[in-house]
Amino acid sequence: MTIHFIGAGPGAADLITVRGLNLIRACQVVLYAGSLVPAAVVAEAPQGARVLDTAPLTLDQIVAEMHDAHAKGHDVARVHSGDPSLYGAIGEQMRRLKALGIPYDVTPGVPSFAAAAAALETELTLPGLAQTVILTRTATRSSAMPEGESLEALARSKATLAIHLSAANLANVVKALVPHYGLGGPVAIVERASWPDQRIVTGTLSDIQEKAKAAGITKTALILVGQVLDPGAFAESRLYAGDFSHEFREKAV
Ligand SMILES: C[S@@+](CC[C@H](N)C(=O)[O-])C[C@H]1O[C@@H](n2cnc3c(N)ncnc32)[C@H](O)[C@@H]1O
Repeated sequence: MTIHFIGAGPGAADLITVRGLNLIRACQVVLYAGSLVPAAVVAEAPQGARVLDTAPLTLDQIVAEMHDAHAKGHDVARVHSGDPSLYGAIGEQMRRLKALGIPYDVTPGVPSFAAAAAALETELTLPGLAQTVILTRTATRSSAMPEGESLEALARSKATLAIHLSAANLANVVKALVPHYGLGGPVAIVERASWPDQRIVTGTLSDIQEKAKAAGITKTALILVGQVLDPGAFAESRLYAGDFSHEFREKAV
């Protein structure tokens, strides 16, 4: 009997992994984070399974559900949105399970930043422009940012930023980024990437607030920032250049 932490992917029901879906189909208990996990994925639970939205539960109550299932010899699918390693609060669940001697494993999922990049048909790492993607967020009432991880500090790198949980905090995001990316710094906001009602707003740090307000975007959105969103004439990668040899190919010219 195992607790399977499973990434459901960003929203489209067919963006869950084959392994994740097969586990859901085989588990007698399915605990899912209701706000962002697609209903179609949870609907794959077997007939008679205990299927529970954990959004209204506390950590104690969630762990109690896992403990009950374990006592009954039932496998549990613990389904989180996107990839569970990002803002999924799985660390604290795994720590409790370890202390209780309950076995668990993790199946990754497609993270929302990847779904947002796909929606934008954008490469987040373009030669010469950005070779680093920073996955971050801003502080909220429930979560402060650790020292040294303020947007102001991260922005100094001018890397591509994928800012989570911050659509309602856009004014502060813009304020922190303008000194480093400039007023013309390209921004894209992707709301509900991969869901049927996905929306995209693009602009610059000077006009994105106005545009997002006009569109009414306040949650379940990813804010992407960086020159890769408006790259102009960027260099081609050396890896595929005809005059470059490597382990798998001799240079052609
Ligand atoms: C609790 S975090 C979960 C992140 C998730 N584990 C992941 O891998 O993307 C929720 C935040 O992720 C982002 N997010 C999750 N799903 C999204 C989607 N389909 N489109 C855009 N942003 C999404 C939003 O910033 C949202 O506020």
